[in-house]
Amino acid sequence: MQISNDKRTHYERIGGEEKVRALVQRFYHLMDELPETHGIRKLHQASLKGAADKLFMFLTGWMGGPQLYVEKFGHPRLRMRHITFPIGEDERDQWMLCMNQAMQDVIEDKALRDELSAAFYKTADFMRNKTE
Ligand code: HEM
Repeated sequence: MQISNDKRTHYERIGGEEKVRALVQRFYHLMDELPETHGIRKLHQASLKGAADKLFMFLTGWMGGPQLYVEKFGHPRLRMRHITFPIGEDERDQWMLCMNQAMQDVIEDKALRDELSAAFYKTADFMRNKTE
């Protein structure tokens, strides 16, 4: 993995709002379509619209852009907000599959993809709440 010396935020490097929206849209499209991620798709509501809006707001702040999610919903407390969904290694890996594929499709800069992938993995792994 390559870590760059780029001092800009991830939000600036990805290309701002339009790109974060494209990433989230691709992510949930993949979750909806891929047979191997059916397990986590089932945990979501029939419509992915609400989840997509929230993930867009959250990632905007998480990448160093405006804190849209915090302004609207307060502290993310992400682990707590996921506690009602059983998340183990399989669910984490399915989430990462969608996100890594979405990044591959939307982000051209490989160094940025690698940095984000490592950061996403940490967050997704932290979300595990099932004893296996
Ligand atoms: C590890 C596997 C994960 C699973 C299985 C999972 C699943 C879910 C589900 C089922 C929801 C509710 C969506 C709905 O309303 O239909 C949700 C919400 C959300 N997820 Fe995840 N998630 C995972 C990891 C992550 C990660 C790594 C992030 C951030 C990087 C994240 C960010 C969010 C956000 C911001 C919400 C909205 C929370 C709220 O305000 O209610 N999730 N997730």
